[in-house]
Amino acid sequence: MNVRALLTERFEAALAAVLGEAVPANVQPAGRPEFGDYQVNGIMPAAKRMRGNPRALAEQVLARVAIDDLVEPPEIAGPGFINLTLKVDFLAETIGSMPLLATTAHPERIVVDYSSPNLAKEMHVGHLRSTIIGDALARLLAALGHTVIRQNHVGDWGTQFGMLLTYLDETGANSAELADLEQFYRAAKARFDDDPAFAARSRETVVRLQQGDAHAREAWQRFIDVSLAHCQAIYDRLGVTLSPADVYAESAYNDALADIVAELDRQGLATASDGATCVFLDEFKGKDGEPLPVIVQKSDGGYLYATTDLAAVRYRSRTLAADRVLYLTDARQALHFRQIFAVARRAGFANPTTRLEHMPFGAMLGTDGRPFRTRAGEVVKLAELLDEAEARALALVAGKNPELPEDERRAVARAVGIGAVKYADLSKNRASDYVFDWNQMLAFEGNTAPYLQYACTRIQSIFRRGEVTPETLPVRPAIDERAERQLAVLLVRFQEIVEQVAEDGCPHLLCGYLYELSTAFMRFYEACPILNADAGVRASRLRLCARTGDTLRLGLGLLGIETVERM
Ligand code: ARG
Repeated sequence: MNVRALLTERFEAALAAVLGEAVPANVQPAGRPEFGDYQVNGIMPAAKRMRGNPRALAEQVLARVAIDDLVEPPEIAGPGFINLTLKVDFLAETIGSMPLLATTAHPERIVVDYSSPNLAKEMHVGHLRSTIIGDALARLLAALGHTVIRQNHVGDWGTQFGMLLTYLDETGANSAELADLEQFYRAAKARFDDDPAFAARSRETVVRLQQGDAHAREAWQRFIDVSLAHCQAIYDRLGVTLSPADVYAESAYNDALADIVAELDRQGLATASDGATCVFLDEFKGKDGEPLPVIVQKSDGGYLYATTDLAAVRYRSRTLAADRVLYLTDARQALHFRQIFAVARRAGFANPTTRLEHMPFGAMLGTDGRPFRTRAGEVVKLAELLDEAEARALALVAGKNPELPEDERRAVARAVGIGAVKYADLSKNRASDYVFDWNQMLAFEGNTAPYLQYACTRIQSIFRRGEVTPETLPVRPAIDERAERQLAVLLVRFQEIVEQVAEDGCPHLLCGYLYELSTAFMRFYEACPILNADAGVRASRLRLCARTGDTLRLGLGLLGIETVERM
């Protein structure tokens, strides 16, 4: 149950009844304990607009609002806030009988475009954020009951492929020799830069490829297969839910591109400019006020990244019938997407009801504050990064629990190492740059994967020590102590947080919540004896433990972070 949404609904109904119009109630979690659990912040702005007295309006609203099943008799605070304190009965009932996560009453079809690497090269850390954040959102939206359509919009069609295929032809490299794609790319690039004849042949190859020449196609397919297999191996290691079936590559839109340009032309949106075809929209101007074009066809007839994205919008909106399309790329593509969305709307490529949302993220930096690279200044390969994560986690786990048998230790190290890398990314505000710091992400203190994974195992161990199975416990906890209440209030907020992440695409809110929940649990654990308490109290507290463990595990699961039995 989403308590905040419920309170909002009730207060908005009362406000509308009093004022005769719909105004936002703005119910927020209270910032401080003395303000209760939630605070209604919408009264003052509403009163101001009506030129009324906020306290008087608050009183009128309170006289009408029906909330006594949820909260204690409310207080009006300061100039006109309403402070709300959840009833203990309501907390106990919700924890006792409500599912951890209810599915939405309004399921949507949601396309999530994520990972989407360029297949000319091996995946590198630049693709980590899109892959990890996108996968968490896809999992979370599906858990809320939406139909999630994953789209791995891999780049498999740029001019770079001309160079790679020409080199492939020249060297006759087989699949095994292609295995090191990074190396292969570098060698091809060197040939391209050094030898004008090679460069010319590369350009011809692109044309032949795009014209459907059988030989070029066959070589291209071989290359793409190797590159996609690299990606899939990374997804599998990361525990990312993308599969080959989710690949819908740039090349899949080839046949639609001419029509996209023709359609823009028919609608009078296209303008010829220096031989290229462009769309100019009034809302996009450069610094000095000159119009910024969206180029959809080059003078040599070639199409661009933007053209493909317009075709993708149309496919997703019309064919996939998406209600929402989320794009996970770094913030440098913000202008590109604003332009694509605007052109797509203008041209009717997107249904008016389809919401197109770019969810940008910042760069990944090293601890020196510079873009994350190897000591030699090269891009870090994902596969190597994950090797290092597991190796570091193995040392950590070995130090923490030397008794763990070898194979279990490796499994735990994998969960902790991979979990740490993913969680470090997810727990930072997506919009900011973030510093990739091994020591921070692998710490057992603070808002980290190991801390939360460890908290889960501690709860499991309470049940092991007490020889209790959670199913045998009474469903409704008693909530008497302060620490019990604080834990219960957080437990009840889970649904609200998950729904907010679904709306804003900000998994760090869920991470912050899970961290807060586990610290509240630790305080409860210290303040309230569990296994040594009298039978009734013991069972009730174990119930709180079980709900906390379930919430942590489910929450981490939604983020794509594995948990373990012990560590
Ligand atoms: N391949 C692009 C890149 O590596 C990302 C594609 C994102 N999705 C899209 N529909 N443009 O930057």
